[in-house]
Amino acid sequence: MYSEKVMEHFKNPRNVGEIPDADGIGQVGNPVCGDLMWIYIKVGKNAKGEEILSDVKFKTFGCGAAIATSSMMTELAKGKTLEEGMKMTRGDVATALDGLPPVKMHCSNLAADGLHAAILDYFKKQNRPVPEWMQKLAPKEEEHEHSEAEACG
Ligand code: FES
Repeated sequence: MYSEKVMEHFKNPRNVGEIPDADGIGQVGNPVCGDLMWIYIKVGKNAKGEEILSDVKFKTFGCGAAIATSSMMTELAKGKTLEEGMKMTRGDVATALDGLPPVKMHCSNLAADGLHAAILDYFKKQNRPVPEWMQKLAPKEEEHEHSEAEACG
C-alpha cells in the first residue's frame, strides 16, 4: 500500500520538533480526523540576497502519512526561496515519496498548507505586506476537510 520512501520517512522522520526562535509558524488542522500540524521556519538569505527557508521543522498529531509527507516536505523546502516554498503543492510532496494511496492524498495537505501558513506568518510578523500572487496561494480552510469516506482511512 505504501511506497518504501513513505515507510522510510514514517520510521525515520526528518526535522521533527520546534524551532524556538522561529521566524514563522503555521498551524493547520483537520476538523474531521482531528489531525494537527505545526510548521516552523527560519528565514535566511542566499548568495543572490533572496530570502530562503534556511530551516524547516514540523510537529504533528497526525497519521503515518501526515508524518511521512511532513518529513519529505521539510527536506524539499529547505534552501528554497519563499516563493518556491509557496508554490510547493501536496502533489510535489507525494511525487517525491513515489506516490501515496489515493485515500491518503488528503493527508499531505497538512504539510504543504502548514508551510504556506508559516511563510504568511513570517510576513505578518515582519509587518510586511503579502504580495498579491502569494495571497492567492494562501491556504484555504476548505481544502483541509476530509470527506467522511476518506477520513483516517
Ligand atoms: S491527515 Fe487526517 S488521516 Fe491523515
